[in-house]
Parts: sequence; C-alpha cells; structure tokens
Amino acid sequence: MSTLLRGIGQLVTNDPALGAGPLGVRTDAALVLADGSVGWVGASGRAPDCDQVVDVDGRCVVPGFVDSHAHLVFAGDRSAEFDARMSGRPYEAAGIRTTVSATRAASDEALAGNARRLVAEMLTSGTTTVEIKSGYGLTVADEERSVRVAGMVCDEVTYLGAHVVPPEYADDRAGYLDLVTGPMLDACAPHARWVDVFCDAGAFDAEESRTVLAAGAARGLGRRVHANQLGHGAGVQLAVELDAASADHCTYLTDADVTALAGSPTVATLLPGAEFSTRSRYPDARRLLDAGATVALATDCNPGSSYTTSMPFCIALAVREMRMTPAEALWASTVGGATALRRADVGRLTPGAKADVLVLDAPSFVHLAYRPGVDLLHQVWKDGERQVPRR
Ligand code: NIG
Ligand code: FE
Repeated sequence: MSTLLRGIGQLVTNDPALGAGPLGVRTDAALVLADGSVGWVGASGRAPDCDQVVDVDGRCVVPGFVDSHAHLVFAGDRSAEFDARMSGRPYEAAGIRTTVSATRAASDEALAGNARRLVAEMLTSGTTTVEIKSGYGLTVADEERSVRVAGMVCDEVTYLGAHVVPPEYADDRAGYLDLVTGPMLDACAPHARWVDVFCDAGAFDAEESRTVLAAGAARGLGRRVHANQLGHGAGVQLAVELDAASADHCTYLTDADVTALAGSPTVATLLPGAEFSTRSRYPDARRLLDAGATVALATDCNPGSSYTTSMPFCIALAVREMRMTPAEALWASTVGGATALRRADVGRLTPGAKADVLVLDAPSFVHLAYRPGVDLLHQVWKDGERQVPRR
C-alpha cells in the first residue's frame, strides 16, 4: 500500500541535501509513504502514482517528534507537591520517593495502562517515537517490571535503577549501588537498550554514577546521564568522557562543560518542561548552540518535575524562554532527539526513513511556537499508517 501526500505548502525533511537550510525545507512538495517508510520526496508536479492520494491543501508537513527523555512508568499523583511549589517551596529530588511508594503498590496492569495512556496522549501532540525510563520501582522486581512495561509501549527502554537511593537503603548507599549494578541490572538489562543515572545533588555523585554507567555498559547498554539539573556538578563531563549518547537537563553549565559538549558527539538534551514546572531558571540553549553543541528537546514527562506530554509546548518554551529560533527548536525536537537516541531512521523525512509524518494545520513550522497552546495537528501518520489520535 502506497500513499501520496501532495499539495504540501512547506515540507521539512531535515536533510539539507533535499531542501533549503539545516531543515531541508521544500515548498510545493509531495511525499510518498510506502511499506511504512518514506519512499520518495520531490516536487508536487512530479510525484509518482500511488494507491492512495491525500491532498493536504498547502499545509506544512514535518517529521513526527522524537521525545528522547520521558518517565512514563509510574503510579500516583503529585499535584499537591506542584501546588506547594507554586506557593514557593523549592523542587527537591526527594519528591521522587512519593512516586516510588505509589508505583510499588500498583499492579502491573495499572502501570501498563498508565504508560499506554501517556504514549497515546503523546501521539495527540505529534510524538511518534518516545524513550521511556524505569526509576520509580527501585527494587529488583519493581525495576524489572518497569522496564518490561516500558518495552510494551516503546522501542527505547532505559534502565534508571540509579534514580535515587530508596528509603530502605538510606543508611547503606554502597549496598544499594551493589544492587543496582548487580542483581537489578541482571534483571533489567535484557529488557533495556540504555542505562541512565541521576548525577546531581540529592541523588548520585560522580564516582557512584561512573560505577553505574560502567556496569550498564559492560552489559551492552548505551549510556545516558541526568546531568547538571539542580546545580553545577560532574554529570556533563562524565557523560562526555564516557561517550554517553546524551547529557540531559544541562541547566547549570560551566564554560568547560559547554566546551566539552561542543567537542563531543554527546547530545545536550534540554527539558524546559522541568524548569517550567519547578519554576527554575531555564538552560541557556543559545550558549550551547553558539558553541556548536548538538541540542535535543524532550518533555521529561514525569509526575514530579514535568507532567507534560507535549513537544509543541516544549518548542514554544524553548523559543520564548531559551532563545532558540523556531527552526532550531523543531530540529532539536525531531532529528536532535533521534541523534540523542543514536537513531538514523526517525526524525527526518528522507527516503528510507520511517514514515512518521505530521500534517500541521498551519502554513509553516514557525506556527508551532507562534501559536502556543493551540493544537495544530491536522493529521498524524506513524509507520505509514494514518492515526486517529485519541486519549
Ligand atoms: O528528570 N531528575 C530526575 N528525575 C526526574 C524527576 C522525577 C521526579 O521528580 O519524579 C527529572 O526531572
Ligand atoms: Fe528525567
């Protein structure tokens, strides 16, 4: 089954060889979707015959969003904590333990149902690829089922047993590290592609983080790091040194951190939903981009610090609050996220890439930031199939 999308007023391919600028923008374009992939990209007037023709009437077409950082396996609600924060209380990593208790008490079905609901909610705002972390179980059994549940709803599963030290190990950090790098890793590694560690105040220090990342890598997992969210620290340098795919948050950076990121393949993944929801200062995206670092945007969707599934919301924040241009923010939300997941098959509309396509009810991608809070999705295609996004 092949589909011709024609009458595209503005097409973002993310391939400079296919169009103008870093986004590879074409006007008056057409796209062929065949067998789940992009089959052809070109001028509307030269499109080949297809089984089905969909005219999008001059609308803008962009790749599906790649949300490379989310925590969707959890139970419970922390709206009271958010409410207290908005009355002046600061955000603390310790809040994670509230979700850990609720997650441990939930059934497998409840956890899977909630994760599925959130992935469906993501699709309603255009996310077609998502990474999901464990990290609210923090026992061998609860982390194992967390990565299993994540694998039921996405392809990019991350083991985050090193999220915080759970209360029962408060007096035995070394014992918890042995668990995370031993039996818990043994149980989780078969279900995961990545290992992550929260390297920050109130979570894990540099040496502990190094131990966790080394153990994960020895089991074949790629590295990711929650780095420099709550203060300056070693997370970013560690991520770069160990060739992590991404250093996530990057809110507090020294000049040396920026230089290290700029000179490495490690992607700086910025999560402005977290700064919004914790009323914190935003990371300086401009500084990273001007230095030459690769930047991704993601939601960090989780019940504590960023309970949004919306990439368009993050794009609007990045443009308004972090001085990214609309083009940089779209790039970071698509091919930037793909790069953070070391994936070449998503985040771009080039022949051979997955046919994950968004048709916007707008003439240009700039509207993603220009019309904040407005649902601009006219059509969503995933694996070449038209989706009926519903919560
Ligand atoms: O990415 N930073 C660590 N983990 C999450 C917060 C999780 C929580 O507060 O529940 C984050 O922001
Ligand atoms: Fe996170």
